[in-house]
Amino acid sequence: MPAETPAEPPVETPTETVAGAPAGTPSDASDGTPEPAEAVTPLIRGVGLLRHLTDAGGTLSLSGLERATGLARSTVDRITSTLARMEYVRLDGRDVALAPRLMELGNAYLAALRLPALLNPHADALADELDESVSLAVADRDGIRFIHQATRRRAMSLSFRIGDLLPAERTAPGPLFASQWTAPEWQAWRTRRAADPQDRGFPAVPPRAHTSPDDDFERRAARSRQDGWALDDQLIEPGLVAVSVPVRHPGTGRIACVASVVSHTSRHSATDLHDTLLPRLRTAVSAMEAALRGAATASPSASVSAPDSASASASVSVPLSVSAQLVRASKQELGREFIESLARGLTVLTAFGEDSPALTLTEVAKATGLARATARRALITYEHLGLVTAGPHRTFALTPRVLSLGFPPLSRTSLPRVAGPHLADLAARLHESTSLAVLSPSGEEIQYTARSAAQRVMSVDITVGTRLPAPTTSLGQVLLAERATAASGMLEEVRRRGYALLDEEWEEGLRSIAVPVHDRTGTVVAAANVALHAARRTPEECVRDILPELRATAARIEAELAVAGRFLRVASH
Ligand code: PHB
Repeated sequence: MPAETPAEPPVETPTETVAGAPAGTPSDASDGTPEPAEAVTPLIRGVGLLRHLTDAGGTLSLSGLERATGLARSTVDRITSTLARMEYVRLDGRDVALAPRLMELGNAYLAALRLPALLNPHADALADELDESVSLAVADRDGIRFIHQATRRRAMSLSFRIGDLLPAERTAPGPLFASQWTAPEWQAWRTRRAADPQDRGFPAVPPRAHTSPDDDFERRAARSRQDGWALDDQLIEPGLVAVSVPVRHPGTGRIACVASVVSHTSRHSATDLHDTLLPRLRTAVSAMEAALRGAATASPSASVSAPDSASASASVSVPLSVSAQLVRASKQELGREFIESLARGLTVLTAFGEDSPALTLTEVAKATGLARATARRALITYEHLGLVTAGPHRTFALTPRVLSLGFPPLSRTSLPRVAGPHLADLAARLHESTSLAVLSPSGEEIQYTARSAAQRVMSVDITVGTRLPAPTTSLGQVLLAERATAASGMLEEVRRRGYALLDEEWEEGLRSIAVPVHDRTGTVVAAANVALHAARRTPEECVRDILPELRATAARIEAELAVAGRFLRVASH
């Protein structure tokens, strides 16, 4: 297999900046160090473009991307074509939008970290018990980055997303992490504060309103070390208060992550948080630490959170990723518009995961199917960008910064948003209307949650939000058939066949065919259908021509839902 291809056509023009962004922006290399000679320029640019899209909330026009990255339009076009081919972005006219599959990068980090799998259930249970938001955050240099949010949605204050980065000094977890900082780390923090007095490098937080002296934070850090907890008394915005406790590694005693209870001054003052909620947070953290101990005893070689405990065994066998195969096929199909070095480089990130939290160069090459030299250059590039860090025994691991590649906006996705573009594709191909619906809790009605109408004069007048009686619709029959209580012969048949076809009783002359949509656990979470005028196709033609297309669409929705739902709950509405 030709792992080293001949040089690609150049993607740079002399006027462009190296990293595709003006120096000093967060899209640049982490610490302003010059780009290593071996770094892969298209990879730096692709990653930069993904960061710009993320900071912009998930969508930018092509010309907006041109401005944001400082790259030539033809370069932006080629990068976005490549990312679209990988299903990491979606091209919608002149707009480029992040697509759910991109979450596989952040998922690789979260899986390798292992904390979410072990701790999220405890955080969720605490949020339920307190009826307050609970979050888990890890240290990301002089910031904190969220790896989990059990959010109680309330109108009062902003809530953060998984992957959001906050300046350590404006949070409750920050002082706890800072209590472990070395002198150079404190210096880096002071330098950043001075260089960015308004926190512009942290798009998730409102600008810093007033400057508190640096030694305030130093005092909070020292204090938190003694106390074992820390407070945020409205440091991010008025009203927002939080109390935090560190979750420590069983072996090293170092802080693995910090658990926080977040509230609002209309419910709890900061003192009150300490008095009433801290004891329960501490109990939950004890349970979290027990879960970490349990995991460490269960598989000592693979204990939690890679860098200082990575298993360096060369026998890790990692399957060749699907994306590596996709890269080969795509180059043949798209030719010059496909930047192979970008696509290949991105497959390096997904080589990491639960069973491979730290990998040697040899292991990365094996897992991706890349030549050692190619894998090495990708790793050098990622190290330069702060996405990968070198560990003991010549291993590499992903850093929390991988979450900055799309995770925050995508973590707020919903089933209708995931399904929307796929339903639109299907409607355009078939020239018929397509819809997605869920069952009401009573099971009596379905509610439309997404819809793409055919471009026809005569089309059925249904909009998102419309409710219809479940039993008389194909969507409802598919959903009812999944209920254990729904044991009628007809529904039994729908379930066995995997689809419902019917001439709808509520509108004369309308025919529709529906299939279930499953989440990653196999639970039916919605139904998708195609609706058409009965005169257009016979029932047999619907089964022969439409059903396979509809099933393929449902499978595409399910695949994206599985990626999006790996570490978070995707809302079904
Ligand atoms: C949050 O989880 O939203 C959070 C946690 C700690 C803070 C602020 C916000 O200090």
